[in-house]
Amino acid sequence: MRLPRLRIRKRSQEGAGGKDAVDSLVDIEPVKPVASPERLRLSVIRGDSRLLESYALYEPWAYAYIAEDVKTGVISYIVYEVGLTPQEESVYKSIVDYITWELEPPKVPVEDVREYISRFARRAIRLFQLKLGRTPGLSWSKIGYYIERDVIGYGPIDPLMRDPNVEDLSCNGPGIPVYVWHRRYEYVPTSVAFGTPQELDEFVVKLAHLAGKHISVAYPVLDAILPGGHRVAATFQREVSTKGSTFTIRKFREDPITIVDLINYGTVSPELAAYFWLAMDYKMTTLILGVTGSGKTSTLNSIANLLRPTYKIVTIEDTPELRLPQENWVQLTSRPSYLVSGVSEVKLYDLVKVSLRYRPDVIIVGEVRGEEAYVLFQAIATGHSGITTLHAEDIDAAVKRLTSPPMNIPESYVPLVNVALVIKRVTKLDELGRPRPVRRITSVWEIEDYGKYRELSTWDPLRDRFGVDLEGSLVVKRVAKMRGVSESEVVDDIMKRKAVINYLAATGRRSYREIASYVYNYYYRPREVLKEVGFEEG
Ligand SMILES: Nc1ncnc2c1ncn2[C@@H]1O[C@H](COP(=O)(O)OP(=O)(O)OP(=O)(O)O)[C@@H](O)[C@H]1O
Ligand SMILES: [Mg+2]
Repeated sequence: MRLPRLRIRKRSQEGAGGKDAVDSLVDIEPVKPVASPERLRLSVIRGDSRLLESYALYEPWAYAYIAEDVKTGVISYIVYEVGLTPQEESVYKSIVDYITWELEPPKVPVEDVREYISRFARRAIRLFQLKLGRTPGLSWSKIGYYIERDVIGYGPIDPLMRDPNVEDLSCNGPGIPVYVWHRRYEYVPTSVAFGTPQELDEFVVKLAHLAGKHISVAYPVLDAILPGGHRVAATFQREVSTKGSTFTIRKFREDPITIVDLINYGTVSPELAAYFWLAMDYKMTTLILGVTGSGKTSTLNSIANLLRPTYKIVTIEDTPELRLPQENWVQLTSRPSYLVSGVSEVKLYDLVKVSLRYRPDVIIVGEVRGEEAYVLFQAIATGHSGITTLHAEDIDAAVKRLTSPPMNIPESYVPLVNVALVIKRVTKLDELGRPRPVRRITSVWEIEDYGKYRELSTWDPLRDRFGVDLEGSLVVKRVAKMRGVSESEVVDDIMKRKAVINYLAATGRRSYREIASYVYNYYYRPREVLKEVGFEEG
């Protein structure tokens, strides 16, 4: 099957989707399917499809095409890779064979195994270059792309892994298109599919090995972290999944989402962000609610970045997703029991218990689901601060879950939570009137008592605005008491923090390191910082 010649908008790799894209047109040779023809089964650029956008994934070899079926409105994602010529393909196969047979395990332990293999692959390519001599018409860099993709990369899904717009990838079985969650289009099927059960089984085994773990008929479930921090869950063959092996990857961002990103995305307002900053500063116990994939962990990470640098922080997770700038931070992760027989399981529960020995100011649990919640609440009851996430749609559902088995938190512990917020995926129309998925913190509550919650902030979907009511805020009251100042002084403090946050957003200072430096300076040199951000007193 041949795809028609396509007009590709060339973009810098980093700026894929960005405003500064170079809009030049290049012609690309028609692609030859790189894996099974099944991969191009969903070739949607047909007469009845409309190209919505295209961008480079890895210039000049891989591009993404997003197309919409004009009749059904179904959106698909096509990966377009420049194909290998028959001559290139045979050289590629010889090099891959050579690497497979000749690569020896490192003699001394190496820190970065991928770099070790990558170096060996580069040497192998050079060796073949020398061996073959002059090879007109053969592109070594193209061969290099495929070797990198298949030997150290993620093979057929590698282009998808490179797309910064793709957050999740999932494969539900052989012969079914891999689905991705795209920032602008939500779940869309792609042109990538694993043609045969064996192809997919081998790929899942490769994923497990990349994560330094094992998957087999005996241990058919995998939950692990891939190099680069991507979270992978997989099942093997038909042991537990009826259609055959499956996998899903939640991509890790090199650069974590920060509070300034949340403002830029419209997820929070600067005022609300400033309120969370104050809440973190005064160790308010906080619950982050939302459904799967709504952005709970990202919100947790971005607000925990605002904790005072002097606090002792212990984080407890099943898979290490959190990234904090604070140095006085211990990161603990649980260990499943099925890894190696004879190795005992270490549960979140055990880690929350042991975390108390570290004398933490703040205990952060990635997500509470079971008995660990009870220990966490006991810790909070004895004066520690806790931040955690919970699968729940709103405060009532959250309290119900917390107080029922298996968490069994006594009702009297509920008011230990100071703040609860819910993050949701909602749909917003873009400039052209097309629905686009966005995230919003739709409600923030302050907990007065069991069953008594004060709504501090609500999001108005019509105006896409946040209403924040600081007057009468319980957190403001508590902070005023702790500091021995009036409530209006605390509100002033929130306004000062808001000015700092606005300044960071306006000047494009969004990385977690940059934000950490302003947070740090605000604590130790507030006057200087306020002067820099142009805050006018009164
Ligand atoms: N406010 C946001 N705006 C845009 N994208 C976001 C936002 N928050 C999170 N994301 C993206 O959404 C994806 C899911 O985020 P995250 O892991 O934080 O969700 P979660 O609710 O913790 O998911 P899970 O239920 O699986 O634990 C990530 O790829 C992240 O980059
Ligand atoms: Mg999460």
